[in-house]
Amino acid sequence: MQSGGTQSVPHNSNQISTNRETVESIVDKFRSGEYLVSVYGLGHVGAPIASVWLRAGVKVIGIDKSQQVIENTRKGVTHIPEPNVNESFTKGLIEGQFLVYDDPIKASVDSKLKMICVPVLIRKNKPDLSIIKEVIISIGKGLKKDDIISIHPSLPPLTTEKVLVPLLEKSSGLKSKIDFSVIYNPERIYEGRAIFDIEEGHPGIVSADDTYSLDLALALFSLMYKKGIIKIFGIKIAEAEKLFEGVYRDVNISLANELAKLCDRLDIDFWEAKKAANSQSFCHIHDPGIGVGGACIPIYPQFIIDVALKNKVNCKITKTGRAINNEMPSYSLSKALRLIRGKYSRKSKITILGLAFRGGVSDTRLSPTFDLLKELARLRIKDVIVHDPLVNNTELIKKFKDVKLVSDLNYAVSGRDLIILATNHKEYANIDSSMLGHTPIYDGRGFLNPAKFEKGLYGGIGRPSLR
Ligand SMILES: NC(=O)c1ccc[n+]([C@@H]2O[C@H](COP(=O)([O-])OP(=O)(O)OC[C@H]3O[C@@H](n4cnc5c(N)ncnc54)[C@H](O)[C@@H]3O)[C@@H](O)[C@H]2O)c1
Repeated sequence: MQSGGTQSVPHNSNQISTNRETVESIVDKFRSGEYLVSVYGLGHVGAPIASVWLRAGVKVIGIDKSQQVIENTRKGVTHIPEPNVNESFTKGLIEGQFLVYDDPIKASVDSKLKMICVPVLIRKNKPDLSIIKEVIISIGKGLKKDDIISIHPSLPPLTTEKVLVPLLEKSSGLKSKIDFSVIYNPERIYEGRAIFDIEEGHPGIVSADDTYSLDLALALFSLMYKKGIIKIFGIKIAEAEKLFEGVYRDVNISLANELAKLCDRLDIDFWEAKKAANSQSFCHIHDPGIGVGGACIPIYPQFIIDVALKNKVNCKITKTGRAINNEMPSYSLSKALRLIRGKYSRKSKITILGLAFRGGVSDTRLSPTFDLLKELARLRIKDVIVHDPLVNNTELIKKFKDVKLVSDLNYAVSGRDLIILATNHKEYANIDSSMLGHTPIYDGRGFLNPAKFEKGLYGGIGRPSLR
């Protein structure tokens, strides 16, 4: 590792920084509590990150825009169902290691390292940077010489260089690489095991556009990542890396969906074919399904498509993959409705199992269940129940007036015309004909064992219709 200190450190813009504190001294001051980390956004990413710093013995300031989140955090409670977050918050509050602020500028003034953990959303298929820009401006207003800004959300390539750094410089009056350091550290967590993932699940990725900041990033983030760190010189490479992870998954899911649809038509069991195909070491066919949801996989290809378009590049495979995956809820619903004996009508009673975008989490962002509900509303089918063992926030479905959100599974599946399994929650694993009687089920995740259902009462993505 570079020792830093008063030596001059050249970087790629040929500017020379002098009198920088050594990396070792900075790390020691975080360890001793002299320097603080502030975490902006205490959601699915920020809450576990704040916890990991606390677990590493570092003093943390938590900031969030939501008063509800602030109030809960002050009680040591997070709304994110992640193991060990509440425990870390509570211990940190009791020991005075965890401070909760609602003033983002003061948090910047009081901290040395600022971690940005707010989301970049998609609006009308375009990245919406408004939240991160707001945070950057607040941080800039409280920025001091030699502070460090670490950015975590997945970003369209070049966003840090072209948008965020200029905004930081403008709001602070300071100069990046000379007066302050910028690090990009894309998050790689899998919801439901976030702390484990950060600490020991994957190597962390740290990047910067100058060697001093990169060495600083390596030393600081080594306090968190026990599985090692991949160091990237060039933030734009790390921005791209993170999107590649998501695009790879989205495109491969779309390939699985395409092949599963073909199998549906040919009456071939996709799942058996897939299992055999994947025994070949170069073949990694993914799982098809009723739709791709969550705050990551459906969004990152959109970042790529948008930036490609602006640069006159046609990312055909990425676009096609997105289109195929977007069609899956309506394709699946039309297959499911065919299971209703006779014909479905506006009076059909339909239950959807799962509002979360995938099993084991309560996160409903971009869940395919919302697309199913839109389709059912379009078909004017009103008697619709949604069941989820982990989601009970009825606000989420308030725009679907007649739809009920329930948590009693027996109630949800009794006396219905059709059940659609949309989320692979473990609570659904034992569903079979003895529980459903003569109600048919459409398995949108290939999650259930078809042999456990009477003939004609089970249908599923990529499953033969007649057994
Ligand atoms: N969730 C994941 O599994 C995951 C995985 C990898 C990467 N990411 C990336 O992390 C980013 C953050 O995602 P998330 O899932 O944590 O989002 P989230 O919605 O769960 O949390 C964001 C938090 O930021 C707060 N917030 C909003 N505006 C704010 C502001 N101006 N100042 C302070 N706080 C503010 C919100 O109240 C919320 O608590 C995403 O953009 C995504 O690219 C997420």
